[in-house]
Parts: sequence; C-alpha cells; structure tokens
Amino acid sequence: MGYFKEINLNNYRNFENFFLEFKNGCNIILGNNGSGKTNILESLSLLEKGRGFRKEKIENLINFNNRHKDFKIFSLFNNKNINFNISAFSLNQNKKKISVNDNSDLTSIKHFESLFSIIYFLPEMERLFVSSPSFRRNFLDRLIFNFNKNYNTVVNKYKKAIAERQLLLKNLQYDESWIKNIENNIVEYGSIIYKNREEHIKVLNKILKAINTSKHFSKDFVLKIQDNFYETNKKIYENKDMYASQLHFNRKKDLFQGGCSIGPHRSDILGFNRLNNFNLNQLSTGQQKTVVLLIILAQSEYLINELNLHPIILLDEICSHLDDSNRELLLYLTNQLKVQVFMTGTEKNFFSFLSTKAHYCNIT
Ligand SMILES: Nc1ncnc2c1ncn2[C@@H]1O[C@H](COP(=O)(O)OP(=O)(O)OP(=O)(O)O)[C@@H](O)[C@H]1O
Ligand SMILES: [Mg+2]
Repeated sequence: MGYFKEINLNNYRNFENFFLEFKNGCNIILGNNGSGKTNILESLSLLEKGRGFRKEKIENLINFNNRHKDFKIFSLFNNKNINFNISAFSLNQNKKKISVNDNSDLTSIKHFESLFSIIYFLPEMERLFVSSPSFRRNFLDRLIFNFNKNYNTVVNKYKKAIAERQLLLKNLQYDESWIKNIENNIVEYGSIIYKNREEHIKVLNKILKAINTSKHFSKDFVLKIQDNFYETNKKIYENKDMYASQLHFNRKKDLFQGGCSIGPHRSDILGFNRLNNFNLNQLSTGQQKTVVLLIILAQSEYLINELNLHPIILLDEICSHLDDSNRELLLYLTNQLKVQVFMTGTEKNFFSFLSTKAHYCNIT
C-alpha cells in the first residue's frame, strides 16, 4: 500500500517553507486555530488532479506575502518500497501542474494516479444531509472520481453543455443542428453520470448493509437517488433517444424557466433509515457524522477489497461530536483498514482513544 512519507511546502498558503514527515498508518496534525492544519491536508489533496478539496483559485494557494512567486508542494510517496517524487505547483501564478519524478508527461501522471485515491472528510460534511442537493451530488461524484479518474471531465463537459444549450435557447433564432448536437452531448454525458451514480449507490448500499450486520457501531440506512425524470424512466441511460426527445420537448419550458429541467444536475441523493424510512436529514449532527463516516468506511472497503486501490484518508477536525460509538468507528477506520490516515485537531488529548501507535505532528 502506498503512503506519503513527507511533504515540503514552499510559498504555499501560510507557509513560506515548511517540512513535515509522516508515517504509514495514522498521522495526527496538532496545532492552534489558524496554524495551517487544514492547509496541510489541502496540500495533499492538491497532489491529485483538480483544485484540491477546497476547489480553490490558484491565487489563494500562493502565499499572500509573496504573490509574484509560484507555490510548490513537494512530496515523497512510497509504493511497495519505491519512492516517487511528486510535486504540485503553479505555473506563472496561473495554472496548477503536477510532476512525477520531474516528469509532467501524461503516462507518469496516470501511473501515479492509479496508485492511490484520496478520501476526505471536512467539517461541513457533518451537515451533508441538511445541506444543498448540489453538495450531496458533489459528495457522491467525488466518491466515483476515486476510482474513475475521467469522471470529473465528464461532469465538467456535462455542465458546459447544459450552459451552452441555455445560451442558445436564449438566442431565439438558434440553428437546429447546432442545438441538436449540444443536446446529444448532454444525453451522452448525462447518461454516463446517471449510470455511474446508480451503480455506485448500489455498491455502497450493499457494503453498508454488510457493515451493519457485522458492526455494532453501524446504522441501518440506504442511499437513494431522488429525481423525477430518472425515477419515471428506469434505466434512462440506455434509452438515449427518449432522453434526447425529452430535451427537445422541453426547450420552450426551459427557456421560460431558465436552466434545464431534466438531467443528473437535478438529482438529489437522500438517505433513509431502512426500517421506518425516516429521512436522515432528521438525525442529530453527531448521528449524521456517523452516517458520513460509515459511507467513508464503505467506500474504503470497496476501493481496497474490490479494486485493490488503497485510499489515503484525510479527516479534518474529526474530533467534535464523538461519542463512544463514533470513536469506535473511527478507531476501526484507522486501525483495521491498513491505510494511511491524517487527522487534525487542536489538542492531543482529543485523540487519546486512538492507539499509542499514532504519529503526532505538532505544527504550532
Ligand atoms: N494564500 C495565503 N497566504 C497566507 N496565508 C493564508 C493563505 N490562505 C490562507 N491563509 C491563512 O492560513 C492560516 C491557516 O489556515 P488553516 O485553515 O489551515 O488553519 P487551521 O490550522 O486548519 O485552523 P482551524 O483549527 O481553525 O481549523 C489562516 O490564518 C489563513 O488565513
Ligand atoms: Mg482547519
């Protein structure tokens, strides 16, 4: 299994030059508020494709005191005793690039991407089921991206096609073949998204059920996609003509209402208690945290057992709302999965329930 051995941050966020060593297993980053704990976790997330877990603009990743210099994140990643030098850096304070052993070619990067996946928990995820549908869609899409690294591109192309169609509709004298082409793209990408989400929810529900029967810290719930168009047209992703004709039919309505009234950008992902169909948004904050941690556990088990892909788990400010059962769940996540885990907190004694094997890094 792969793990990060060290990280060196240069002109990045609040760090001018900062070095930290990590252990395989559980790493706990301690520090006062504002000392840079979340920034360190974010820097690890930037070693993957994309803008990191805060989806931040490049200019904000660069140290405010030295805006005319690029930021650099250097890290050493160990996989089966082979070290990789991985860097993420800005180019001309603009684009983010990744290099693997000083190579930025696609093959090196793709190889590195195939070695690990980052799963993260951020404090705002405690409110997953009471936040917006788009927050939940992003949460699920992010889990799919863990093992399907092209999925993000599909989601972005889908969003772009939806915006293009809207622009064309506003321009009342649009060219029929042009809009048809855009709608076909929407159907193509939308179908991929529907199918991936449906399949992954099925996978997660199956593992969650198994966890529930074997672990007493679990909760019995199922995840479901809520979407009128998707629910009334079973397997819509296999009936692309029907999907396209619905888009065509809705043009007037969509122009009038703005946006596009059907498609995976309209879906919500809900959770229900299996026994009484109780919506998970009615759970307490601590209980919702249990649910999110269980989803993270199910996801990790899927990546490890089915895909042989070892996740790196980033848990930011994980220690609030932990009762005994949540602590046990967290202990299981950090000890049993044999993956590298990072947690942050302001005080060491919050973590006393973990084994003494945890590696503490005090950054204050
Ligand atoms: N581009 C930047 N340049 C300089 N400082 C920055 C930049 N971006 C963010 N900061 C600062 O970095 C500091 C650390 O932020 P971070 O969110 O990592 O703190 P933290 O240790 O996680 O704190 P908390 O315990 O409150 O969560 C903050 O004071 C923030 O304002
Ligand atoms: Mg923080």
